[in-house]
Amino acid sequence: MELTNNFITIKAHIDGEPKETDFENKARHLALSVAPCSNDIIVKNLYVSIDPYQINRMKSWSSSQKATKITVSIVIEAYGVGKVEASGNPEFAKDDLVVGLLIWGEYSLLKGEYILRKLDPMGFSPSYHIGILGHSGLTAYAGFFEVCKPKKGEKVFVSTACGSVGNLVGQYAKLFGCYVVGSAGSKEKVAFLKEKLRFDDAFNYKEETDLKTTLKRFFPDGIDIYFDNVGAEMLEAAVANMNFFGRVAACGVTSQYNDAGKRCAPDMEGVVYKRIKIQGFISIDHMDIFSDFVSTTAYHLHAGDIQAIEDISLGLKSIPLAFIGLFHGHNIGKKIVKIADE
Ligand SMILES: NC(=O)c1ccc[n+]([C@@H]2O[C@H](COP(=O)([O-])OP(=O)(O)OC[C@H]3O[C@@H](n4cnc5c(N)ncnc54)[C@H](OP(=O)(O)O)[C@@H]3O)[C@@H](O)[C@H]2O)c1
Repeated sequence: MELTNNFITIKAHIDGEPKETDFENKARHLALSVAPCSNDIIVKNLYVSIDPYQINRMKSWSSSQKATKITVSIVIEAYGVGKVEASGNPEFAKDDLVVGLLIWGEYSLLKGEYILRKLDPMGFSPSYHIGILGHSGLTAYAGFFEVCKPKKGEKVFVSTACGSVGNLVGQYAKLFGCYVVGSAGSKEKVAFLKEKLRFDDAFNYKEETDLKTTLKRFFPDGIDIYFDNVGAEMLEAAVANMNFFGRVAACGVTSQYNDAGKRCAPDMEGVVYKRIKIQGFISIDHMDIFSDFVSTTAYHLHAGDIQAIEDISLGLKSIPLAFIGLFHGHNIGKKIVKIADE
């Protein structure tokens, strides 16, 4: 059987804020069969992940691109969940539910080396496996427990706390017994953090004029751990309020992704004298704890003491706006696009 496979691509490299006109829908014929023992697999995509870091892969140049630059007019890879339609790989059979690196499209044709595994949804929606039980979750878990090495009762500040990674960092930190304050970009998000996720406190950073003073107000006794999703002024303000032996997990710099002028200059004298540790990290460096992370998080989900916060748009054509919306704070929780029913 042959069909038309629709997918989303970029028209040119994007070196600024992404706009709807930067993207286009393309279509290619796809035969829904593969040669036996070819190792090729065709996956029908069900859910795909929408992530801020993909903007760096769409630029003409970024330091994140050593291996992963996105090519104009070619498919855009993204984590996703799907069902196997045809397989030349003996480890996968038709109708297997799978998770791995798919594309922003209706079907993914995987050839050569690919990242894919069979998925046991463990009683959860398959979408959880690209969010709370996937790389967003691993990022929050590894960043908080492995990089920040928390102690009970410590004071934790999380930026972009209503986002996919941020909300989970806050939830893990609360569950672990820390005092947690989050920042987010609207009063609705602040209310969500305090009322739905039971953060100790939260504030709308867009309403604050002097973030150093703001953080002093929320942390009169200083910050022990800062989980940084944004960089820029927030990182400078957090470092200024850190306690001796404080830890900063440098997870992402969303404020810099579309504005290279947003680089920051934390007070390095303070970093030295207060023995502050600032550590960048990437989730895939922590695959050794992936199964621990999944079983612990699944246990807390089943027990009802962690919530999966998802923000799902419907249909392939919603991908450009879903992605652009990340840079305008439109999402609460993990941004996902549902491509098809199971
Ligand atoms: N190190 C790793 O392995 C790893 C893995 C995954 C993600 N990350 C990074 O972690 C960060 C969060 O990722 P995520 O997937 O959880 O995304 P997300 O937080 O769910 O979505 C993006 C959010 O960023 C905020 N934002 C957008 N533009 C901004 C700007 N100019 N300045 C400040 N905030 C802005 C918005 O929230 P507000 O409304 O609150 O502003 C928006 O909702 C990103 O920097 C991402 O690249 C790192």
